Amino acid sequence: MKNILVIGSTNIDIIAQVDHLPAPGETVGDAILSEAFGGKGANQAIAAARAGGKVTFFTCLGDDDKGRRALQNLQENHIDTRYVYTVQDHYTGTALIFVDRKGENIIAVAPEANQYLSKEKMNPYLDVIKNADLIVMQLEIPYETVKHITKLASYNGKQILLNPAPARQLDEEVLKSVKYLILNETEAEMIAGRQVSEESLPIIGQKLIEKGPENIILTLGKKGAYIFNNKRRTFVDSFPVTPVDTTAAGDTFCGAFATRILEKNDLTRAARFANAAAAISVTRLGAQPSVPSLPEIERFLMNHKISGHEK
Ligand code: RIB
Repeated sequence: MKNILVIGSTNIDIIAQVDHLPAPGETVGDAILSEAFGGKGANQAIAAARAGGKVTFFTCLGDDDKGRRALQNLQENHIDTRYVYTVQDHYTGTALIFVDRKGENIIAVAPEANQYLSKEKMNPYLDVIKNADLIVMQLEIPYETVKHITKLASYNGKQILLNPAPARQLDEEVLKSVKYLILNETEAEMIAGRQVSEESLPIIGQKLIEKGPENIILTLGKKGAYIFNNKRRTFVDSFPVTPVDTTAAGDTFCGAFATRILEKNDLTRAARFANAAAAISVTRLGAQPSVPSLPEIERFLMNHKISGHEK
């Protein structure tokens, strides 16, 4: 079985379900409060593991009850947690999330322990990087660490899946070492410097590919996923579902995609599989509680037939 190494954040998500997202200065009452395991790194690790992948996770947790519960949760999901680091005298990362009745959200993240996932912490573990078949990263840890890992990984001929979330500008040397760049509209607009529309998709794909990644996978929510590389442009339709909470839909896509692309090495099929996993996730509340298992994804795919088409 191939090895997926996820390097990223872990958060505890505090969720307030509200009728509508509050405007600046507005107080919205009657919120329903809950808590869930989250963090883009942990969500993607869990999504890859539940989709059947063999996952090792590098992350920093706080020296607190939240950190201990997050660690136990990762272990219960069969993730190799030997390199999970507990940062003494710091809290575990925490996200405050509002979700409205249409499933849309706004999120504020306090990174806390995630800030301490420094490149120095990774240095003793070069072997783990060398043993990985795919390295999956996001941007909720220090950018210097992401840069360092991309350098190490490309020097050792390793494949990188980068989900540049939260959105920021990226160095050319980072983008050049990426095999799969999976990003949403906001992230694509930030990196390509152009607004996403149906007409601009091929131009954005071209702009992004010229920056160095081998494959661009643009996730467009209910409009599907757009795959762009030097040989082809394919649109993979999404599955129609009624959203409850879109939190971690992108993370679920990335994790499921990582597992499937390593198994079958087919971009369209991996994106369809990941679209199905993400579609299931938006029908449930919370980040990790919403991530489906492999049998759930397979059942969903059997009941929903969609195809990819050239664009
Ligand atoms: O992508 C969703 C995640 O973003 C949430 O789980 C939250 O923790 C923030 O990191």
